[in-house]
Amino acid sequence: MSALRTVLLTALCVSALATMPDAGAAQARRATFGALADGTRIDAVDLTSRSGIRVRIITLGARIQSLYTPDRTGKLADIVLGFDSPQQYFDDSNYFGATVGRFANRIGKGRFTLDGHSYQLAINDHGNSLHGGTRGFDKRVWKIESTRSGSSASVRMSYVSPDGEEGYPGTMHVTATYTLTDSGELRIDYRATTDKPTIVNMSGHSYFNLASSPAHFSTMRDLLQINASHYTPVDDTLIPTGAITPVAGTPFDFRKPTPIGLRIRDGNDTQIRYCHGYDMNFVLDGRPGTIRLAARVEDPRSGRVLEVYTTAPGVQFYSGNFLTGAFVGKHGIVYRQGDAVVLEPQDFPDAPNHPNFPSATLNPGAAYHNEIVYRFAVKR
Ligand code: GLA
Repeated sequence: MSALRTVLLTALCVSALATMPDAGAAQARRATFGALADGTRIDAVDLTSRSGIRVRIITLGARIQSLYTPDRTGKLADIVLGFDSPQQYFDDSNYFGATVGRFANRIGKGRFTLDGHSYQLAINDHGNSLHGGTRGFDKRVWKIESTRSGSSASVRMSYVSPDGEEGYPGTMHVTATYTLTDSGELRIDYRATTDKPTIVNMSGHSYFNLASSPAHFSTMRDLLQINASHYTPVDDTLIPTGAITPVAGTPFDFRKPTPIGLRIRDGNDTQIRYCHGYDMNFVLDGRPGTIRLAARVEDPRSGRVLEVYTTAPGVQFYSGNFLTGAFVGKHGIVYRQGDAVVLEPQDFPDAPNHPNFPSATLNPGAAYHNEIVYRFAVKR
């Protein structure tokens, strides 16, 4: 073999080694999750990290289907609610683990005006539009753009929402990138662009349950902290009144870690009654656009701690009020009211109809971005 050939071959091997993930590194692996009743295949990408944490993302709704983290004894458990098959996700209206959009949360009567044009969105929630309408991003099949293994594992999925879909103006290109780091963090990066002025609000809708056993499934004893001094009260259809109200002296004051169940039955509070518990947008302290701690949940029994960081101006805390025990989820568990902590970092609900709320308008040439970080830890 000539000297030149040897040099070339060695260089090739070295570069192949450099791009090949080593066995201990974080890995992204493709798999098939299943198919919808009409035969549409739903793919999955499994992200695993050296810390033992693993997450499955599926192409139906670019959603988190399972997420395993250790408790204080090192025992792994799946800490998100959901289903075992694609069709169950398709038929369900709880948005388990989904990417929600175009507009996460509610828009009053599904109406808004932009640059003098009035738009009517699909109505799917007590006369309002919720989480993108009848068939939002959660029920669309996303494309796997790329996966990466190495010091972290990631997958980028994309979806193109046509002009007029569910009543929204503009063709919108969206991406959801999930990255699992070796330090035990799951990052979600949402991006969107448009070819016409429109509105956007993308969020992650995971139902967290930090328990290690179905016998201790209620989240009512979980300690919740939300980094918010204000919230946006709602009417009886859960549309914000436009007020931005201090949490002090209300059941919405979670500035210090507080058991979720402590004030959830406070019948004197109209907001608790309207929401059937907690289903409220909190105005996060700190500057929107900078990544900062939004909320922290601790299950004192399992020791699992979840911290949620975001660049978004608000976070919706929903306590699983509409889980009625009517169906069986993953691992043969029946989901009942209060069985989950849902923390959805987002723009404020109904923002297009409240000039005093941060704007949710997206113009051509601009880029929408919402970053969410889940950090997993244990308290010994
Ligand atoms: C959001 C809403 C809730 C409910 C859930 C899905 O969190 O704010 O009212 O619709 O989604 O069931």
